[in-house]
Amino acid sequence: MNRFPENFLWGGATAANQVEGAWNVDGKGVAVPDVVTAGSHTIARRVDPSLDPEILYPSHEAIDFYHHYREDIALFAEMGFKVFRMSINWTRIFPTGEENIPNEAGLQFYDDVFDCLREHGIEPLVTISHYELPYALVEKYNGWIDRKLIDLYMKFCKVIFDRYQNKIKYWLTFNEINCGTLFTGTVIETCTFKGYTGPTNEAHSSMQIRYQALHHQFVASAMVVAYAHEHYPQFKMGCMVAQLPDYPATCNPDDMLATQKHMREVNWYCSDIQVRGRYPSYSRRFFRENGIAIDMEAEDEEILLRGTVDFYTFSYYMSFCVSVDPNADRTTGNLLGGVKNPYLNTSEWGWQIDPKGLRWILNEIWDRYQIPLMVVENGLGARDVKDVDGKIHDTYRIDYMKQHIDAMAEAIEDGVELMGYTPWACIDSVSLSTGEMAKRYGMIYVNKFDDGSGDFSRERKDSFYWYKEIIKNN
Ligand code: BG6
Repeated sequence: MNRFPENFLWGGATAANQVEGAWNVDGKGVAVPDVVTAGSHTIARRVDPSLDPEILYPSHEAIDFYHHYREDIALFAEMGFKVFRMSINWTRIFPTGEENIPNEAGLQFYDDVFDCLREHGIEPLVTISHYELPYALVEKYNGWIDRKLIDLYMKFCKVIFDRYQNKIKYWLTFNEINCGTLFTGTVIETCTFKGYTGPTNEAHSSMQIRYQALHHQFVASAMVVAYAHEHYPQFKMGCMVAQLPDYPATCNPDDMLATQKHMREVNWYCSDIQVRGRYPSYSRRFFRENGIAIDMEAEDEEILLRGTVDFYTFSYYMSFCVSVDPNADRTTGNLLGGVKNPYLNTSEWGWQIDPKGLRWILNEIWDRYQIPLMVVENGLGARDVKDVDGKIHDTYRIDYMKQHIDAMAEAIEDGVELMGYTPWACIDSVSLSTGEMAKRYGMIYVNKFDDGSGDFSRERKDSFYWYKEIIKNN
């Protein structure tokens, strides 16, 4: 029995800074990830803008998608992809963000990638900003705290909308925008770390700064969505949220209330604004209790209301528990840590594996917003070791994906309108949190290692063949 709709968008996801490499060729400028060093599960990545050739910056080479995209897209097509999620690296188009004339070589690169996808019958899904702010905008404006960035983002969007209007239908304005609510978002999301060098996980900007920077992103996103609706009615504009769902650790009402509060602050806050077009009522108390005062221009409320998104997309890797007990056992996870769930196993990197949580949160999101949903990131970061036959038999990844796909099928039966699924990252890429290659997500193995060695050759893992069958049989 087909458990997925006929036109379900099966595919895979990546981000420019984690796959492209070619960080300084053909006129590209320096993006924030280009000044972040390699790390590991135990050693934090560091912001180091010295660009010292002795230091390993993983985004500089990544997996060299820039020179391998034809081969990679052919492999995606072999798996039967209907859609490919990727981002446009802002610094290929505007190297410092402030030029008046876009960089033609950068525009041409994405033209070539989109054409290649079309030749293979694959629909591109573009993240406009996936943690790839031009670093010059950090130095000059302290990132998104400056309202000026709204205009610069708008200029970037106008150029890419105009150029790719006949090639792209699906757009996401900001990757995991709610990462900006967290301390960990200081470097990668709000980019409010001017003058800071050191471990990325210690770069703190105050809540006032982060929430004001986020306000500028909400306005930028809404302006761009409204502009797209007006000029390109064929576009579908989406938001993108890191879903980190919480369960109360016990049935203690205090745990329940703490869970609701955390869910609102981390998981709902941004999309409540991007989907409904206004700040949620709970934000008033939250701002008051945290000393946050958002500086708004007169027209901002109206802009937010005009620029609501057409569909909701999210990443899902794990769930957490919330407890009022300060001694509760904790575990690490995507972007933040949380209280351990005794019913779940974890990956080697401590991320709790919870397929049923995906079904639960799909239902919650659908009930809340009633607009089409898409899971645009989900996957298992694992250490792949070649077997004696020289192949990667990644049964653990197949198992993870199978359980999450089952959970999506159940959610569809529950009544959720789900458009598609793009697991992260369909091809091995640089890990965002650790900068490692060793934390592999792909169904395609890339011969590239943490010491910088490797010949970039690609190989199919067992999950490649398995996912191909899943797509074929819908
Ligand atoms: C998401 C990001 O948070 O998680 C991706 O959007 C990232 O960029 C993915 O790669 C997996 O996280 P990590 O740290 O294991 O690469």
